[in-house]
Amino acid sequence: MRIIVGISGASGAIYGIRLLEELGRAGVETHLVISSWARETIRQETDYTPEGVEALASVCYSPEDQSAAISSGSFVTAGMVVVPCSMKTVAAIAHGYADNLLVRAADVCLKEQRKLILVPRESPLSAVHLENLLRLARLGVVILPPVPAFYHRPRSVEEIVDHTVGRVLDHLGVPHRLLRRWKETGTVASGDSLGDEHRAAASFAWRLAD
Ligand SMILES: Cc1cc2nc3c(=O)[nH]c(=O)nc-3n(C[C@H](O)[C@H](O)[C@H](O)COP(=O)(O)O)c2cc1C
Repeated sequence: MRIIVGISGASGAIYGIRLLEELGRAGVETHLVISSWARETIRQETDYTPEGVEALASVCYSPEDQSAAISSGSFVTAGMVVVPCSMKTVAAIAHGYADNLLVRAADVCLKEQRKLILVPRESPLSAVHLENLLRLARLGVVILPPVPAFYHRPRSVEEIVDHTVGRVLDHLGVPHRLLRRWKETGTVASGDSLGDEHRAAASFAWRLAD
């Protein structure tokens, strides 16, 4: 399985990093584009360097490289996730303004009718943001904002992050053990929000910035 991952300059770079870690663990071939502003959010919000994040992917590209493989529909993939997705990138994808490789790769997914998942991050949302997101939802794009659920009683920011990452993996059809499912037992130890095994598996080399 081959998936494109785009990390754009919205807050929440850790969502993209955790997704890359989990896709790598599942043996998925990942093709990564980090936008210029995402390089800044990675530095501001995590203990990773942009180069360290790139090392998590199978292949990575410069956002300026419009001649990359993922720029063409002939390069077959199972789809793309933009995580986190800034409102600027939402607007660009919604209007086909492919002025960088991340948006071009998303544009290719739209034209080839491949799976496209956006994890948009902004609050509050303006009417412009909402209209762009609605336009994309009507084209079949999965709009999966990083909105936490609390029914699994998360004990940490890591668990909150993993809940959203787990939902993205669900939409990609990639098996995982990141989340406690509603009314499902047996996945994690009872009385433990996610289980020690999960915690051992999760490699969080990051902290929230002060
Ligand atoms: C620390 C930081 C946090 C940001 N958070 C957001 C955000 O949550 N949502 C958003 O739409 N833009 C956010 N921005 C602004 C985007 O980075 C900016 O619009 C940029 O042009 C997006 O370009 P890109 O989508 O190509 O990465 C943030 C910028 C910085 C520096």
